[in-house]
Amino acid sequence: MPEPAAIEPIPPAGTADAATRRACYDNLVAALRSSLQGEPDPVARLATAAALLREALAQASFVGFYRVTEPGLLVIGPYQGPPACLRIPFGRGVCGTAAARNEAILVPDVEAFPGHIACDGRVRSELVVPVPGADRSVAGVLDLDSYAPDAFDDVDREGLERCVRLLFADSGAVGSAG
Ligand code: SME
Repeated sequence: MPEPAAIEPIPPAGTADAATRRACYDNLVAALRSSLQGEPDPVARLATAAALLREALAQASFVGFYRVTEPGLLVIGPYQGPPACLRIPFGRGVCGTAAARNEAILVPDVEAFPGHIACDGRVRSELVVPVPGADRSVAGVLDLDSYAPDAFDDVDREGLERCVRLLFADSGAVGSAG
């Protein structure tokens, strides 16, 4: 059974240079890979990833997953943070838009994103990254929110895209978040 990995904090966007922050993501990817090793259960994998990412990203008020449970629908999965909206159709809010486009969306200022869903009125910025399934279709999304504006940048997006690929797509684990 893998031991829980030691987690190094990732400095918030704008507080360290890109190379330093990328190196932190290298460690996070390694920690995630080792924590998930040999675990086929999708809930165990997502819950462990949410906990690990929350430890690494103190700037995030919410770190969690929405899963595609039927075509065009996201349903809340394992998360860390205040209670979140339970269901989001594809195309709605940042999460539903990222899922529909199958691409990450970085929102430095939620007020400037038309249709943003305010589950928590304190949130000022967010980053949503699609989670690829074993067949590369969208299995869900990873949603990170922050009470600070501009809390995430492209280094976070790239690092988190590496993390989510470990969940199902490149994991060798059969199945997906559904
Ligand atoms: N902010 C998201 C909704 C999900 S909650 O913030 C957890 C959105 O607009 O998709």
